[in-house]
Amino acid sequence: MKFFKRNSPDLPLAMIDALLESEYGVAGTLTSLESERDQNFRVDARDGAYLFKVCNADEDLQVVELQIGALRHIERVDPSVPVPRSLPTLSGDHIAEIKTAAGIRHFVRLMSYQEGVVADRPEYDTPVLRHNTGVTLARLDRALQAFFHPAASQDHPWDLMRVPRLLDQVDHIPDRRARRKVVSILERVRDHTIPSCLGLRHQLIHQDAHTSNIVINLEQPEEIAGIIDFGDLLYGPLIVEVAVAAYLSGRPVGDPTTLIDIVLGYDSVTPLESAEVDVLYDLVLARLAMSITIAAARAGLFPDETHYGADLEFMSHRIEVAVEAAPAITDEIRRVLGFSRQPRNDLATRRASLLGQYSPHFYKEPLHVVAAEGMEIVGADSRRYLDFYNNVPAVGHNHPQVVNAVSRQLATLNTNSRYLYSTVVEYAERLTNTLGHDLDVCLFVNSGSEANDVASQILKQRSETNQLLAIEGSYHGMTEASLAITNEDGSTSSTVSPISIDGGRDSLPDTLAGFFVDPALTSNGMPAVEDGLLASLAEMTRARGGLVVADEVQAGFGRTGVMWGHDREGLVPDVVTLGKPVGNGVPLGVVVTRREVLDGFLEETGLFSTFGGNPVSCAAGLAVLDVMAREGLVENSATVGAYLRERLLGLSQTHDVIRDVRGTGLLVGLELGLDSDDARTLVELMRQAGVLVGAAGLHGNVIKLRPPLIARPKHVDRFIEALSNSLYLL
Ligand SMILES: Cc1ncc(COP(=O)(O)O)c(C=O)c1O
Repeated sequence: MKFFKRNSPDLPLAMIDALLESEYGVAGTLTSLESERDQNFRVDARDGAYLFKVCNADEDLQVVELQIGALRHIERVDPSVPVPRSLPTLSGDHIAEIKTAAGIRHFVRLMSYQEGVVADRPEYDTPVLRHNTGVTLARLDRALQAFFHPAASQDHPWDLMRVPRLLDQVDHIPDRRARRKVVSILERVRDHTIPSCLGLRHQLIHQDAHTSNIVINLEQPEEIAGIIDFGDLLYGPLIVEVAVAAYLSGRPVGDPTTLIDIVLGYDSVTPLESAEVDVLYDLVLARLAMSITIAAARAGLFPDETHYGADLEFMSHRIEVAVEAAPAITDEIRRVLGFSRQPRNDLATRRASLLGQYSPHFYKEPLHVVAAEGMEIVGADSRRYLDFYNNVPAVGHNHPQVVNAVSRQLATLNTNSRYLYSTVVEYAERLTNTLGHDLDVCLFVNSGSEANDVASQILKQRSETNQLLAIEGSYHGMTEASLAITNEDGSTSSTVSPISIDGGRDSLPDTLAGFFVDPALTSNGMPAVEDGLLASLAEMTRARGGLVVADEVQAGFGRTGVMWGHDREGLVPDVVTLGKPVGNGVPLGVVVTRREVLDGFLEETGLFSTFGGNPVSCAAGLAVLDVMAREGLVENSATVGAYLRERLLGLSQTHDVIRDVRGTGLLVGLELGLDSDDARTLVELMRQAGVLVGAAGLHGNVIKLRPPLIARPKHVDRFIEALSNSLYLL
């Protein structure tokens, strides 16, 4: 293998002096510097210090061009990245030649000298320096992104992607245990890590940024003054850059904190990908295995050469420590970077001890979820569950347009609406355009409950009375005021009159502050109501001085096959409250009303929510509206919803237990001739069949279906098959 034998040049000083003078016009004192395979000098001239490099006789011209080209590219793209400058000869070339007395030709080059000391002593190795190392390397890699040269794929001895070939050399490692460890690392890298790396981001990388190639300035020892030695530049996986930087001569291995400092620094400039993090520590181990094997092979094959930085005993010890630490390290890095981790089976117990034993779970055996995408949620058991229950991710779990809009906004600005910024205004404009003309102002909060709470405050502030009307069995939220309107369990409140949808209108109070209604009657199990009933209740409220609040937290945003549930019911609201799907999972609640209503309220109260309408939530809201329009999700809700009902009606022919199929769009209630316990059992059976649904209604016997609005007929078919099988098992 090339350069396995170091064979460094050893030219006489007089020759170098003469060449510097004739080619570069530089005269100065030469000091010899250490190098793995070249001959390097510091040149102290009158106008400052230089680095003069005599390349190894085996070095290709192309490789020298690659290194110089890369340095000059970095200088052009981002001159603030601290790397040496390539300096030209008197005739403007960046490469010159020197010939020894024996006629051997060497390329030579002159560069700026990086003042400072190399950072390879333990006392320099602080968390801040490591973080800055990561930052600087990421900036260096960014600057190199658009650079390419054919020699970037040269056959290089330190190419980590070719490390398995060192399996032929492991016999030179004297320590038996270390040798065994090296073999198992190299085999794993050959069989798993390198194949995984093939799909990762690749580009030209420095590939040798360990502490001996990081220069610091002792006045500011935590800043990176320079990254030197571009001799190992190669085209390779980006993550190798981080792995090599983590392998640091004077640094303890096996301690996740050292590695994490570098990783976080790098990630702060160039976010790492999940699959890159998964191979990172294997690559660290591979680099350790590579160092010990190359050092041992050189010592074994060329015993007469001076050994370059090789202490085999120390290296053997390090490799043992590093391997022992392996299982915990990747998990810890994933945690710190916010990636999901290996599931732990004591999670439910820890949750109960920290959130309390009554903190609710959907299922008897808690469902541990780790990821989601589109129509599916991924369990810790790697099973992909079809989501037919969650209405919050209306445009699909983790829709990339929402994720990216939120991430970009979060990385740019997030503050509160007492400052002037555009997202909240744009969002209010876009949102009010979808509603009736007079509903033209918004008050932003963080949830459906808060929206209803504020709406209740608005109603009461305008009215002589604090009496409100709400439908029996409805749900409007969990704050004190929204809970008071909620009447799921038939409870009563001194200020709220629950009204049955089957009658009982005679007993209405003479005056009312307002009427809250979920136009889809979701918590009631989506019963069919007499035509015009909700609209007439609204009129009766107005006749008693009150305002009408359409709680669109469930019904809104296309859920029922039209944009707004109140339009379907012919209901004209004074206030609309929103939550759940508005931000597709990012907390965002809105109260939309008429200008005079909001002005009257805010003039008196000045109410303000810190997070309400923050730029990140509004970016989510805007992306949701965009996706809904582009993907035609309101129409999809109507057509796929119709198909879902058709399939359910078909199923009811063979399953007598299905009593009724209700709802519109992708909000469907399946009433079953079961008690609430058996309905719960069905929900559990559906989970076992890989589909998530819920139960609702006053008697808990209505299966509630609210899939993301991106559902297609194929998802309906999968759901129907699971339901049919589960009903047979019941
Ligand atoms: C109709 C309705 N309004 C309000 C809320 C409360 O929303 P949140 O839980 O986001 O506060 C809900 C929640 O299920 C709801 O269904």
